[in-house]
Amino acid sequence: MNILILGSGGREHAFALKLSQSKKLSKLFVAPGNAGTADCAINLGIDPVDFIAVKAAVLENKIEMVIVGPEAPLVAGIHDFFLQDKELKSVPVVGPKKDGAELEGSKEFSKKFMERHGIPTARYAAFTKETLEEGKSFLDTLKSPYVLKADGLAGGKGVLILETLEEAKSELEDMLTNNKFGEASSKVVIEEFLDGIELSVFVLTDGKSYKVLPSAKDYKRIGEGDIGLNTGGMGAISPVPFADEDFLKRVEERVVIPTVDGLQKDGIDYRGFIFIGLMNIDGNPFVIEYNVRMGDPETEVVIPRIDSDLLDLFEGVATQTLNQKSLELTSKTATTVMIVAGGYPESYEKGKVIYGLDDVEGTTVFHAGTTIKDNKIVTNGGRVMAFTSLGDSMEEALEKTYKNISKVSFEYMNYRKDIGFDLKNV
Ligand code: AMP
Ligand code: GLY
Repeated sequence: MNILILGSGGREHAFALKLSQSKKLSKLFVAPGNAGTADCAINLGIDPVDFIAVKAAVLENKIEMVIVGPEAPLVAGIHDFFLQDKELKSVPVVGPKKDGAELEGSKEFSKKFMERHGIPTARYAAFTKETLEEGKSFLDTLKSPYVLKADGLAGGKGVLILETLEEAKSELEDMLTNNKFGEASSKVVIEEFLDGIELSVFVLTDGKSYKVLPSAKDYKRIGEGDIGLNTGGMGAISPVPFADEDFLKRVEERVVIPTVDGLQKDGIDYRGFIFIGLMNIDGNPFVIEYNVRMGDPETEVVIPRIDSDLLDLFEGVATQTLNQKSLELTSKTATTVMIVAGGYPESYEKGKVIYGLDDVEGTTVFHAGTTIKDNKIVTNGGRVMAFTSLGDSMEEALEKTYKNISKVSFEYMNYRKDIGFDLKNV
């Protein structure tokens, strides 16, 4: 089978490496990919939201299945585009259609979905410019800290958590009347603050049945001890030690099953990943958000823990036979640490030559922001590479990862040395 993966991050490299090991694979393409995917697939210089270019590549390379990595093409309707096109409609797409992608594309849509299907989440209300005063009154009914969320996609930056009522009111006004996050904040969801420990659970569904993939915890802040600016993610651990069997059973019963059933009840034929951001409050799961794709860098710890053939699972999604597939997982712990460009998540330089990659042993390097220039691997983004190791314990896996990171260098390289710090005695 010929496969095309859309995207260019560590997530897509992790998919590519895993699919490249499948006996069912003929040719693998990644668009646009990076220097890592060039090693296990053929990179195509195409922007995933340029559907016309994607179509041409699918026809030219006789692609038989498309795996969508990031949310943007899904929210823009790539799956619907395939179904509506005579030449593409028989090519399955792993990733929801526009209706399902609204779970990530609109916070209000996802809150209403949860409310409708009895899925535990924080109390909320949504406001626009016209209802700004009602929004301020709603804030009066809540306790500090206050959570404000831009309704639309804001590149992971659209959530504000504020200590004082005054700040919350003034930020609400800024979001609604000054378009602080552009069109994304023309509507704002205000919700109750959930005080607990955060983790994510991933689900693969064919619209009828589902498989719960390993749980993971990511480290979003740039600074050690979880301080400083938010990033796309600086590292991740799977499994999450505090997500024990009892907790995961509650997640399945209270969140996963009502979500998959709810999609069906709402007439949404959802085929792809569901990324469920959760807060564990005294052993009870509450949904913070849905994403309609895998996480990055969570994929770099979830996929390495799957022993089954990923292409076989994707075929199950495409043909709605996922219930006939088995999902085998390793009980080992996976850890990943992102190395990033100095300055990230603010401004940073690109084009730095990366040294030492040939010396890495016993750790998988998933490339993110890398490219090849003059036959050398150079940096090409803020998050550069994720170093993933498996071990019998988190400590063992982290030791391998950090030992290998110490062999690699580029100018102004940065990474967090404390991934997993909060899980050591859990
Ligand atoms: P989101 O984009 O909805 O995942 O929000 C970004 C981050 O804000 C989450 O990963 C949480 O750390 C935090 N967050 C969002 N909603 C809440 C909430 N209701 N209570 C506490 N923290 C939250
Ligand atoms: N690491 C968080 C995300 O992929 O959204």
